[in-house]
Amino acid sequence: MAELVVVSDEQAAGALVADAIVSLIRRKPDAVLGLATGSTPLATYRALADRIGGGTLDVRGVRGFALDEYVGLPAGHPESYRAVITREVVEPLGLTPELVRVPNGDPATVEHAGADYEQAILAAGGVDLQILGIGRTGHIGFNEPGSSLASLTRVKTLTEPTRADNARFFDSPEDVPMHCITQGIGTILRARHLVLLAFGEAKADAIAAAVEGPVTASQPGSAVQLHPHTTVIVDEAAASKL
Ligand code: GLP
Repeated sequence: MAELVVVSDEQAAGALVADAIVSLIRRKPDAVLGLATGSTPLATYRALADRIGGGTLDVRGVRGFALDEYVGLPAGHPESYRAVITREVVEPLGLTPELVRVPNGDPATVEHAGADYEQAILAAGGVDLQILGIGRTGHIGFNEPGSSLASLTRVKTLTEPTRADNARFFDSPEDVPMHCITQGIGTILRARHLVLLAFGEAKADAIAAAVEGPVTASQPGSAVQLHPHTTVIVDEAAASKL
């Protein structure tokens, strides 16, 4: 059963999640964080940078695994999730770059990249705390509707609504890649604690389906109901259809 927390705004949510991550790192200096991209987790990353700044907490041993990556963006593209994670997480938090992994979206090797990534997560001992956003389609990571609830990291085709939503990060909508590599829903469910965040009216349907709807592959977010330790943190607008 998920714990639901309704907060006043993104900053309040970011503060809560950052506090949970700081206490995790104090308990476990080589904690493994599951990192989401998109706009949803940014307040968490900023709050975390505030708390960690000034060397008050040694984070050099903290490890991280991003949820997903586009397939086929040129290396170093500013909107590749590798670049986003470096810019929004690794640098501001002062994490050790080699300890933070992002799936490899190079088309030449992407066939094997999923299995390699699964192996790396297992070798790290699994994810301690997984931050999740949710797409309007109900996707978590890039697991679009229809994704198997048991799926592992693999290549997927992005839906048109998701490509349209993500076009804001690119010069033109056609520049949004057609494919991605994403942790599967099964991968995500192996993390020890899931923290699902959502803000704004546009996420209200996806949150209602995730929290109160039937568990179904047509609403990937609903898979969080299968997890014994899920915390859902939303603002009033995202909670408005609960
Ligand atoms: C993106 C990411 C997801 C993210 C979701 C919501 O495309 N692949 O991991 O949770 O869509 O994005 P946002 O937080 O910007 O609303």
